[in-house]
Amino acid sequence: MNRFRNSNILGSCAVVFLLGITIFYWYQCCDCNAKILPVKCHDRSSVSVSVRGADLDFDGFDNELGSPTGEYVVPNIVHFIHFGNGSTTFIQAVCILAAIKNQKPEKLLIHTDQRNFDGGRYWHVVRDHPLAEGVVHVEHLPLPESIFEQPLSQGWRMFHGSDIGRLQVLMAHGGIYLDMDSYVVRSLDDFRRYEMTLGWEDVSGGGISNQVILAHKNARFLKEWMYSYKDDYQSREWFYNAGVRPTQLLRERPHLVHRVKRLLAEWTDPVKLVYVGLSKDWTIHYAIHLLINHQYMIGRNLSQTATYPVVFNETNILLYEANIRDMALAVYPFDKTNPL
Ligand SMILES: *[C@@H]1O[C@H](CO)[C@@H](O)[C@H](O)[C@H]1NC(C)=O
Ligand SMILES: *[C@@H]1O[C@H](CO)[C@@H](O)[C@H](O)[C@H]1NC(C)=O
Ligand SMILES: *[C@@H]1O[C@H](CO)[C@@H](O)[C@H](O)[C@H]1NC(C)=O
Repeated sequence: MNRFRNSNILGSCAVVFLLGITIFYWYQCCDCNAKILPVKCHDRSSVSVSVRGADLDFDGFDNELGSPTGEYVVPNIVHFIHFGNGSTTFIQAVCILAAIKNQKPEKLLIHTDQRNFDGGRYWHVVRDHPLAEGVVHVEHLPLPESIFEQPLSQGWRMFHGSDIGRLQVLMAHGGIYLDMDSYVVRSLDDFRRYEMTLGWEDVSGGGISNQVILAHKNARFLKEWMYSYKDDYQSREWFYNAGVRPTQLLRERPHLVHRVKRLLAEWTDPVKLVYVGLSKDWTIHYAIHLLINHQYMIGRNLSQTATYPVVFNETNILLYEANIRDMALAVYPFDKTNPL
């Protein structure tokens, strides 16, 4: 890593550039007067969390053993990114509530490009939940237009922008990044002892998942992942910069992350686990990516009344004799939006 740092002048320029982004973002996020928010605007000091070694340098850090004293190095802040739409779906509300209940973060930040974020009735259920009080905050995060002077794909801008945005917010704060359809089943605290943690299954051709990422803000691989876009942003590829390229880099130097081979945002068979049949199998996972927009992969309907794909809500989900129903029941206060 020293060699990488010292010899790479472009890298140094990128550091300055990224610092610029970070400072820009920091000001944006804390411009309390500029936003109209349904939740309390916090002041700058309130995002700092009680994790020792905020200035940690990870040269030589052992991502197999974790922090030498066993203390947490990753702050207990959960980050979601919600671009392009001011409304929150039922399943997104379920995922936010699962993170609050099962991870118990000190802060949970929703980063959005919407100036007037008021995510609608499901959002109100989250916002008004007793456990959300003082924990859930909305932050403004501009949707990136380009990365190292390469314009983002028009069609996939929101998705590629979110791939970049998650690196930005982790480099600014550190913490636990979750996709809006990533469901935390049980505490991820074990992984907060590592510089950076990723789900990376041990299957042939398998790569990392980027739907759940834990990292300290100084994690070496966060920077390297961001640099990997330089002169190599593949705007036509859905998952090149988000999954394929970082996996190639990590194969060369796997010590940069703590690899979790099972139960953390697995991608091999989650649709079956989530949408077909009732079992307790989901409860042993750490976090499950619900692949909510990939219901077509199920390939069958549960019954005549429970067909796929479906936009789940608090009434129709009860028709589904599938784990998704139990996952929602475990965290969502059904009496709060259901008039029945
Ligand atoms: C936001 O997304 C929801 C669900 O995909 C959709 O129904 C709604 O029309 C969208 N709203 C806007 C303003 O785009
Ligand atoms: C599931 O049900 C819907 C609605 O009846 C139908 O359009 C669709 O073809 C069914 N899918 C399969 C895989 O049978
Ligand atoms: C839930 O979705 C169903 C369609 O699947 C719709 O008929 C129903 O009105 C919706 N209920 C609520 C409360 O939005």
